[in-house]
Amino acid sequence: MFPARLASLFGFVLIAIPAAVQGVRLDVPRVEDFVRRWNVAATVIGDYVYIDGGEINQFENGTIDEAPVYQVNSTLSIDISTSWTTSDVSIRTIGKPNAPRNAPMIWTDKEGTGGFYSWGGVFSLGRSVTGSEMWKFSADGRGGGSWSLFQDFANPEAFKILLSPERGAYANTDDKGFLIGGSVWGWTQLGFTDTQAIPGMVSFDMRTKEISNGTANDAGSNRSPFETLIGARAHFIPANTGTKSHQGLILVLGGHRSYVDRQVSLEDSPGFDFRNLSFFDPETGERYWQIATGDIPPYPRAHFCVTGFAVAGVGYDVFIFGGRNEAQQSHYDDAYILSLPGFVWTLFPTPPAGPRFFQSVFTIIFTMNPH
Ligand SMILES: *[C@@H]1O[C@H](CO)[C@@H](O)[C@H](O)[C@H]1NC(C)=O
Ligand SMILES: *[C@@H]1O[C@H](CO)[C@@H](O)[C@H](O)[C@H]1NC(C)=O
Ligand SMILES: *[C@@H]1O[C@H](CO)[C@@H](O)[C@H](O)[C@H]1NC(C)=O
Ligand SMILES: *[C@@H]1O[C@H](CO)[C@@H](O)[C@H](O)[C@H]1NC(C)=O
Repeated sequence: MFPARLASLFGFVLIAIPAAVQGVRLDVPRVEDFVRRWNVAATVIGDYVYIDGGEINQFENGTIDEAPVYQVNSTLSIDISTSWTTSDVSIRTIGKPNAPRNAPMIWTDKEGTGGFYSWGGVFSLGRSVTGSEMWKFSADGRGGGSWSLFQDFANPEAFKILLSPERGAYANTDDKGFLIGGSVWGWTQLGFTDTQAIPGMVSFDMRTKEISNGTANDAGSNRSPFETLIGARAHFIPANTGTKSHQGLILVLGGHRSYVDRQVSLEDSPGFDFRNLSFFDPETGERYWQIATGDIPPYPRAHFCVTGFAVAGVGYDVFIFGGRNEAQQSHYDDAYILSLPGFVWTLFPTPPAGPRFFQSVFTIIFTMNPH
């Protein structure tokens, strides 16, 4: 039996609390009023999944409202220590002072009662757009928590000049966060109109609170594995799971390279293939590539979801699902597993839920009690 289960926040999955009132717009509507959620960022801290950002569609008084979407104004949490189904799950709402954003970048810090840093993304419906601000959610270990504007950088002047990106590839180890590429426009940060690619990679040391920005041409641990990268996903593969690295490796999948001298258009930007895989060492910045075999996922593929789990005594499986083909303006409904250390892709039986993009997926580890 698998030691892990994949849980996903696909767009049309029913998620609601029965206690909600009819005819009132809510971040967590009644099951029967719920239509879809998208563009969230989600992470697991202890016994809880935290879900932040994104937008929601719902029925109001029995009819779907004419507005295309509503911004979700609270951070949500779900207890994963107990069993639930999508029609009886209890979802807690936690108020937040910062304006809601779509697909914010998050770096999860599990130290103490845990929390996560949130930066970038697109201000929902283009409302309340600010300058570049990093926020921190501190979890309380009981499914709640609180937000504060994060200003405790060891080098605040370095953060001040950074642009606030969307569509970058992010991942974190236990103590370092990374954000590769992305782009900026009028709904990501005050003062922009055109969509501009952001070259390089931002690294953040969650212990020393030092932030840095490296380009592909730099030497040393701050260098970026890509010059530009939009719509890709990154995933941290821990040590002792079939790779040779002592500190684990970060795998970067999919997305597009982009132009920096003109408006970004993913339709005619080359997409990265899923055969020649890119990794980098989170400690040294060393880059690696590896040719994979098996059922290579079609590309270009952007805005899909990725997670992974250690396979006891064997290696590590990376799971990807869905995404968008920007060249053909279409969406994927397929799922794959990349098995390490063999680097073999296997097409998963296609999930019945249809195509998805801008969704989130995460792994929940269950400990089986031997009864
Ligand atoms: C739903 O009903 C409430 C209460 O009667 C009303 O205030 C609201 O405008 C209605 N919403 C729509 C979309 O008709
Ligand atoms: C979130 O707040 C905005 C602004 O007050 C409001 O228009 C929107 O309906 C709220 N979203 C939900 C899901 O209630
Ligand atoms: C990082 O540095 C590059 C090169 O100077 C710059 O173009 C890019 O905008 C910077 N990244 C961020 C997030 O500001
Ligand atoms: C794989 O990609 C890297 C760049 O990331 C390149 O240097 C290498 O030659 C490629 N390998 C093959 C076999 O195409």
